Amino acid sequence: MEPLRIGLCGLGTVGRGVVELLDRNRDLITRRAGRELRIVRVASRTARPEVDLGGAEFGTDVAAVVNDPRVDVVVELMGGTDAARRLFDACLGARKHFVTGNKALLAGQGAHLLEQARAVGIAVGFEAAVAGGVPIIKALREGLAGNAVEWIAGIINGTSNFILTAMSRERRSFADALAEAQARGYAEADPTFDVEGIDAAHKLAILSALAFDVRLDASAVFTEGISRVTAEDIEYARALGYRVKHLGIARRSTGGIEMRVHPTLVPESRLIANVDGVMNAVVVHSDAVGSSLYYGAGAGALPSASAVLADLIDLARGNIVTPRLHGGQRVLPMSAVETAYYLRIPAVDQPGVLAKVAQILSFAGISIEAVIQREQAIRKEAGRQWVPVIILTHRVIEAAMDRALAAIQTLPEVVDTVMRIRVEPLDDHA
Ligand code: HSE
Repeated sequence: MEPLRIGLCGLGTVGRGVVELLDRNRDLITRRAGRELRIVRVASRTARPEVDLGGAEFGTDVAAVVNDPRVDVVVELMGGTDAARRLFDACLGARKHFVTGNKALLAGQGAHLLEQARAVGIAVGFEAAVAGGVPIIKALREGLAGNAVEWIAGIINGTSNFILTAMSRERRSFADALAEAQARGYAEADPTFDVEGIDAAHKLAILSALAFDVRLDASAVFTEGISRVTAEDIEYARALGYRVKHLGIARRSTGGIEMRVHPTLVPESRLIANVDGVMNAVVVHSDAVGSSLYYGAGAGALPSASAVLADLIDLARGNIVTPRLHGGQRVLPMSAVETAYYLRIPAVDQPGVLAKVAQILSFAGISIEAVIQREQAIRKEAGRQWVPVIILTHRVIEAAMDRALAAIQTLPEVVDTVMRIRVEPLDDHA
């Protein structure tokens, strides 16, 4: 059989990983795909003479890759959305298949791009866009295709997980842990994409569109990052039997599909609560299987290259990799989402404060599960003595908690912004 001829755009970390992995496993890939996968042309802004391209033609112009009549499939690993979109449009025009790891492109414009691709009959593969080497797209589209998914909860940003782990294990500050994540090359070019949850929201939007038939649109994901979480929150959570994880959660709920990314207290006994460092993990709870967990390296040259090659091998075998997205399900607004809460209320240490807070919560119909106020946590600042009051609540809808927090925040005894972290049991019923 004729080889599948690949045009590779981008020779950054992942692009070089694809070249390396294809070379390393050439024979087994050919056997499994039923034909050879051959890179015939490469484009990159920067020449990388140290990379052995195995005879592929090299240039700086990506248009030349699409227009090369030998190329069957274009692999976009350039990053950024504008140039990637232009490359996709060129592929549509030239009827070339498109494989990408570009989560931002898909989360912003994917619904339209996939529709266009299906209309002209080109395939779009994006296994590398979510959780790097963890084959979660295939798990949802293939392995679990006969299941109704009830909820998904994932650690899908390795940088945030690395930072929370460092804060938890070594009691380091957020800024210090972020600096190390950047130095190790985990963070996105703009680290706010990691720490403010934007990257995770992109990935959750992709997973939700596949699992729940919501429109592929990251702007519909409620998004909160980890930059306000403190080492103290992590310690209190631990005292209450929880770990703090930055999760992307999507759930079928009465009234619509929840889609939210935020720091979350997870019971320490859950497997996902123990996924540490830069690793990714996604729990999928579906009707036939119950909970299944997908764990592994969410970024890096070879893990991401593994995902790109999975799509390319599918194409070589003649499998259709472009999903059919319907997008008809309603997204539940965050104000209607029900969850439990951890609250850290910095309050003046005097009689009656806790009673006032409890009264506000009680008026809002919010039941308290646990309270911590530690003598040794008392601070003296600007002539005032205050202390963090930690409250764990039962489940309540977000709108009720918003109203209660607004009232607590106006109490004269509350000296700073109240911290809220949502709590999820992630058990078989949640
Ligand atoms: N910055 C991303 C992360 C890389 O930290 O997970 C992979 O998308």
